[in-house]
Amino acid sequence: MMQEELKALEVEALQKIKEVTDERSLQDIRVHYLGKKGALTAILRGMGKLSKEERPVVGEVANSVRENVTAALDAKKTKLEKAALEAQLSKETIDVTLPGRPVAESGPHILTQIIEEIEDLFIGMGYEIKEGPEVETDYFNFEALNLPKNHPARDMQDTFYITNELLLRTHTSPMQARAMQHSDKSQPVKMICPGKVYRRDTDDATHSHQFTQIEGLYVDRNVTMGDLKGTLDRFSKAMFGQDREIRLRPSFFPFTEPSVEMDISCKSCHGKGCSVCKHTGWIEILGAGMMHPNVLEMAGYDPKEFTGFAFGMGPDRIAMLKYGVNDIRHFYTNDIRFLTQFHHG
Ligand code: PHE
Repeated sequence: MMQEELKALEVEALQKIKEVTDERSLQDIRVHYLGKKGALTAILRGMGKLSKEERPVVGEVANSVRENVTAALDAKKTKLEKAALEAQLSKETIDVTLPGRPVAESGPHILTQIIEEIEDLFIGMGYEIKEGPEVETDYFNFEALNLPKNHPARDMQDTFYITNELLLRTHTSPMQARAMQHSDKSQPVKMICPGKVYRRDTDDATHSHQFTQIEGLYVDRNVTMGDLKGTLDRFSKAMFGQDREIRLRPSFFPFTEPSVEMDISCKSCHGKGCSVCKHTGWIEILGAGMMHPNVLEMAGYDPKEFTGFAFGMGPDRIAMLKYGVNDIRHFYTNDIRFLTQFHHG
């Protein structure tokens, strides 16, 4: 009687264990059949009513039911845990064949590229690279360059003044004076200085209140205008192409004497005249000249013994000519569509 009950209980329990699909329900089954208030315990409680002979027989059956059910529960638990783990692993699998998302490529700004190209050229000719302050004194920006206060040529450059004596440099030329002052006068000075400069201009296609310049300076004994012309010719051919000619036109800067402006022959028409060169055949590139004796003297050089030349050019303008950029503001408004055109792998 009791044996049959126990057998039926085992069959029922094993069937339920077989059907269960989650660990929680499995635990409920364990409690239901084997727990303190469970079905097996309830049956065993009735053992007291059995005869001495029956008791061990029923006890043995009860034990085997407990063992079988426990074994089935444990086996199922292991199986469910394994399945759960596998499900999780397959969910977290990384598909290595999936193509990656492209990372946006960056690169140096076109003006930085131009400046570095020019730096490399002049390093090859023995020049040092120097940098100077953008907040400059009136003395270095003007006075040391032979532009005393109230000199009319100061009007050529509309200046952002900070105080009466401090300003945003209007050109990189103050580095001429600074470089000479710092030199011990026994060595030649040969440097270029790239940097930002500022002018009180209203921004338009050809003007920007902030732009870049590169200053060049060479001071030594017996530096001649021929050296200047040769240097500029070499620079121009390397920068714009071996087929480009240069010409020097007389000009005026207070800190150079004589002063020149340098043009290169127009690439579009090879000097015949077209809209790019405004029908002159030539394109203006930079200002230059032989160091004015006053500038040499103020920086501590004897102008009877030393001569030198200086030049100043605008990387913005050079980049515009080289790449046909028609608006200087493109360099400063950071439109990614403009900037990425100059990124090469
Ligand atoms: N500083 C001058 C300018 O900004 C350029 C220049 C530099 C001219 C050096 C002569 C010598 O226009």
